[in-house]
Parts: sequence; structure tokens; C-alpha cells
Amino acid sequence: MWFKPWKKNNVDVMDRIAMDRLPRHIAIIMDGNGRWAQKRALPRSMGHRAGVESLRKVVKTCSKLGIEVLTVYAFSTENWRRPKDEVGVLMTLLTEYLRNELNELHQNQVVIRTMGKISDLPREAQHELELATERTRDNKGLILNLALNYGGRSEIIEAVKSLGKDVLSGKQRIEEIDEERFSEALFTRGLPDPDLLIRTSGEMRLSNFLLWQLAYTEIEVVKELWPDFGQTALLEAIKVYQKRDRRYGGIHTN
Ligand code: FPP
Repeated sequence: MWFKPWKKNNVDVMDRIAMDRLPRHIAIIMDGNGRWAQKRALPRSMGHRAGVESLRKVVKTCSKLGIEVLTVYAFSTENWRRPKDEVGVLMTLLTEYLRNELNELHQNQVVIRTMGKISDLPREAQHELELATERTRDNKGLILNLALNYGGRSEIIEAVKSLGKDVLSGKQRIEEIDEERFSEALFTRGLPDPDLLIRTSGEMRLSNFLLWQLAYTEIEVVKELWPDFGQTALLEAIKVYQKRDRRYGGIHTN
């Protein structure tokens, strides 16, 4: 099990984290694998491989902390534009990750979920995803939401189409479409919106990620490249989040 005492060098950081004010949902744009590899004169594939290690650490830390949802941008609809070999590496890493980690994730009550057009992924990856989501469906711990072949704009368009169909068939009254109903037509149905978005490697962009769901999310852009991001960096990001003043467009009266 992952519920072990914290490593000594993180005790200080843990002390300063308010366990009663943790973000419920953390979303991450895992950026910088290519630059990490380039800095070491390694092929980009090695950067992605190192990126999987960071993902393992971050999943484990979120699970141990009791975070409810972790959504990670693993493959965007735009990532198909990369060279065929690199797309192949990313798909292989996904398949390997699920094969290697499923037992441990399951033992630790992690629920695996996906968002995106999964039917366009290679058959092997789809098969592992099916096994993983099916096996972990009833778990009670962290929800690990993998954004794969995901794009925020196309998610919104699909939601509009599905609500439109329901209106035409008489299943949905147009006057009753509100923000809550619309949210239920998105991949993230049933999940709280992210409280914290982390983007690594310093880029100030949303890159078509969770366009609807990020409306009131606190954004942290950190300079570390994704393969350099681990437990300590995540705890630091949570600490910064806890210092933010979330007003949701309102003001404080006290
Ligand atoms: C961005 O780095 C990262 C990606 C496009 C993919 C993220 C994938 C992983 C961390 C590993 C595979 C995922 C799973 C679920 C096992 P980049 O290549 O755009 O970096 P760069 O901007 O420095 O070139």
C-alpha cells in the first residue's frame, strides 16, 4: 500500500499544507518532455519515458494525500500532428503504463477514467484502457482521469450536439438547459471542476484543455520541465494554491 509515512525531506512542506483545504481536483498539462531530452542530447522518446516516471510519482502523491481527482493531459487531438514514430512511442508508453501499473493502482483504490475520443487510439491501447477502467470502476480512492485524444473545443461541440438531439427528440426541454445540465454532457460528468491547474515548463497557454471546466480554476505555471516535476514540486504547488484568495467573481465581506 502507498499509505506510508512521508519521506523525511518532505516533512517541512507537509507541515505547511492545510490538509482540510486540499484542492479536490487537480488538472495537469504535462509539458516539457521534449526539451528535457534535448537538454541531455537524448531522443524525445526518452523525455516521454521520463515523463511517465513523473506521472507515477504524482499519482502516488495525490492518492496518499486524499485528492479526489487528478486529470492529466496525456495526448491532445493536436498531438497526431507529431511524427508518426513519436505518436507510436506515446501510445506504447500508455499501453505499458497501464500494463505495469494496473495492479498497484487497483490495490491503492485508484479509479481509472478517460476523457477524449478513445475509439481513434490504437487497438492495443484501447484494450488496456478497457481492462483498467473496468477493473477499477468500483474503487473508492483517487480518480485518475486520463485525457487522451482530447480537445476542449470538440468536447464542447459534442455536448452541444448531444443536447440538441435530446431537444429534438423531446427528451430535453430547451428552457431547462443550464450550466449544470451542460456539464453533464461533457466527459467530466459527475466530477467537480478542477480547483488547480498546473502547467509545467513555463508556457502560459491552455492548449485546448478543459475549456469549460477551468472557468474558475486557479492556474499555476511552474518552470520545471515535466520529467523534473515530482512529489516535492506538487506539494509546493498545493501550498501556493492554498495561499490564493478564491472569490469566484465575488468579494469578501469580512
Ligand atoms: C508534452 O511534452 C507532453 C506530451 C505531449 C505527452 C505527455 C505524455 C507523457 C507524460 C507520457 C505518456 C502518458 C501516459 C498516460 C503514460 P512535449 O513533447 O510537448 O515537450 P516539449 O514542449 O519540450 O517538446
